[in-house]
Amino acid sequence: MTLDEKLGQLVQRAGGRSKALNSRLDDAELDRVRAGSVGSYLHVAGAEPLARLQKVAVEESRLGIPLLFAMDVVHGYRTIFPVPLAMAATFAPDAAERAARVAAEEATSAGLHWTFAPMIDIARDARWGRIVEGAGEDPYLGARMAVAQVGGYQGGNVLRPGSLMATAKHFGAYGAAIGGRDYNSADVSERTLQEVYLPPFYAAARAGAGSFMVAFNDIAGVPTTANRELLRGTLRERWGWQGLMVSDWGSIGELINHGVAEDRRAAGVLALDASVDMDMVGGVFADDLKAAIEKDPARLKLLDEAVLRILRAKEQLGLFDRPMAYHDTEREARELLAPDHREAARAIARQSIVLLKNEGKLLPLDAAKLRSVAVLGALATDGMSSLGSWRAQGKAEDVVTVLKGITAALPARVKVVAAAGADPRNQDLSGIPAALKLAKSADVIILMIGEDYDLSGEARSRSTLELPPSQLELARRVFELGKPVVVLLANGRPLAIPELTEKAPAILETWMLGVEAGNAVADVLFGKYSPAGRLPAAFPRTTGAVPFYYSANATGRPADPDLAKDTVRYHDLPITPLFPFGHGLTYSEFRYSDLSQSTQSVNPGERVDISITVENSGGVPSDEVVQLYVRDPVATIARPVLELRGFKRVELGAGQHKRVTFSLTPEQLAFWSPKGQWLIEAGRIDFWIGASAADLRANGSFEITKTHTGSAPAAALPTRVIVSGSN
Ligand code: NOJ
Repeated sequence: MTLDEKLGQLVQRAGGRSKALNSRLDDAELDRVRAGSVGSYLHVAGAEPLARLQKVAVEESRLGIPLLFAMDVVHGYRTIFPVPLAMAATFAPDAAERAARVAAEEATSAGLHWTFAPMIDIARDARWGRIVEGAGEDPYLGARMAVAQVGGYQGGNVLRPGSLMATAKHFGAYGAAIGGRDYNSADVSERTLQEVYLPPFYAAARAGAGSFMVAFNDIAGVPTTANRELLRGTLRERWGWQGLMVSDWGSIGELINHGVAEDRRAAGVLALDASVDMDMVGGVFADDLKAAIEKDPARLKLLDEAVLRILRAKEQLGLFDRPMAYHDTEREARELLAPDHREAARAIARQSIVLLKNEGKLLPLDAAKLRSVAVLGALATDGMSSLGSWRAQGKAEDVVTVLKGITAALPARVKVVAAAGADPRNQDLSGIPAALKLAKSADVIILMIGEDYDLSGEARSRSTLELPPSQLELARRVFELGKPVVVLLANGRPLAIPELTEKAPAILETWMLGVEAGNAVADVLFGKYSPAGRLPAAFPRTTGAVPFYYSANATGRPADPDLAKDTVRYHDLPITPLFPFGHGLTYSEFRYSDLSQSTQSVNPGERVDISITVENSGGVPSDEVVQLYVRDPVATIARPVLELRGFKRVELGAGQHKRVTFSLTPEQLAFWSPKGQWLIEAGRIDFWIGASAADLRANGSFEITKTHTGSAPAAALPTRVIVSGSN
């Protein structure tokens, strides 16, 4: 390969815009491909248009190296699933895996080889708009969701012909952006980085993610695009990951803005040196690296390594042998929105719904007793908002809106009336009186309020977690009618909703549920399915309480809500969450009993099995999410008061019970020591089993007998769970 051809492989160009795919694929682009100046395109799609492009690459360029086609397929390609935060609320990694698999089937049929997903950034400040793209606040849950999605996209833990290559992004602490402002610096301790932000990435690397993407931001002054220690040191050398590292959009050139590179050439050298292989759109590797390499031929070795990693990915995907395998237009027509894909979307959307409150068992509604229903709120008819951030090829017209779903689920004799009342996008309250008039005579009001799709996602950070003002005003006026009201909350982040919570008898967290949103919501509203999702991030009482997370370190003055004022709390606010991490009600009730453990002490390399019986005592078939939390009560450093180390969504018929066994190893209690290594200290470990981080039902403890070193981020390691016995 010539130097130019090598550099060409490192170049990713935009073949379109995210909202106008393929729009930039003109003759000049074809000439670039012929010249071997491009390795990959993003914002492109379609079996047929991409076949033409690929043909030029393999037949008309000198070396015939195939192109990589990439897109942000984040929660579905055409069949759009719930947004990732909602899918995390399933607490069912197999659901996230299935969604990723369906997305991969569709995307690969449409010419794509590579998705920029899963996004696995931990987020503890819900002002950050991109919290919607990830699995929330907890590294253990995040790691499980990361592994599930990598497996789903790639069809297993190795890249193989036909795979959709997954991208673990954004490495390493993008979610820690100060103030929740997108792109902002992170300044986390090495321990927090290792214990909280990196575990999902470690898990994704182990799960065989073919690529990683760097984060835009810096950690303590080191922009990750130039973070040699993190990229080359931690990820490649210590974790042994050898995949393809892509920059984020223009992030190499942004090293100049960060103030760590004088010019583009210096920026390119820093990124290459850190082991960034491909330059997304920035053009720095294309235009500025050649001179740097000619000046210092020692850099050729770094270039060769990057080229090799890109070619290896292409080879693993089967592109050298069968470059046109992703371009079967008949398969594409069959795959997109296939009936079983829609079915999966409906099932997963139902699993994502969280019942936050259900006073007087208002839910489920008994359709047989209803004569009229009022569906209020602009979001109830807003298909775009059901699709959420990153819609790939999702179309609003594919969406079963909430109004449609409710109408379809009710017998024809039930009168359904609907009105927008007020829209989250503006402050126009003039529609409220008409909506109230319409709702006055209804038996029940279903009020859908919250954020529209454009209030969360990239560059969609908000300074407040409150409801958009028009939405809260609509709710207040509706409650004044004194009728039964079920609130459907739509949002891409935890919200601070104390007033709503006080006034609404029932609240269903319905996020942004994808193409089957309306059917899923109707299934839950009318009792066809008991909601059992759980919050993957706590809801604070007010914006001023963020960053907010359950797994805080023990302090010298623990935040006991009933105790002295001189403890770690606010003077003017209860320290407890409005809704805790892991919270979610169901239409049933569950009894936890007979806690047992296999041993009182564990040596290195051994396990402790912790078992509990969970009985569905509430008379309604429902899932229950059983959660295992741990704490190291005395260590050489202060440890979190609780850490999730296991969970299982268990399906239980009415009256049925099952025994759930969690197998825990000492390695899962390791912490990042002041000496910079994983350390498992001898001593007592406390554990709890519960239904949320604030609803702990049983507890015990065991001893770790010997202090020893670990080798992996504790939260990344999976707890084996066995469910047995049912009657
Ligand atoms: C920028 C975003 O940060 C990243 O997540 C995405 O994959 C790229 N743009 C490409 O769209």
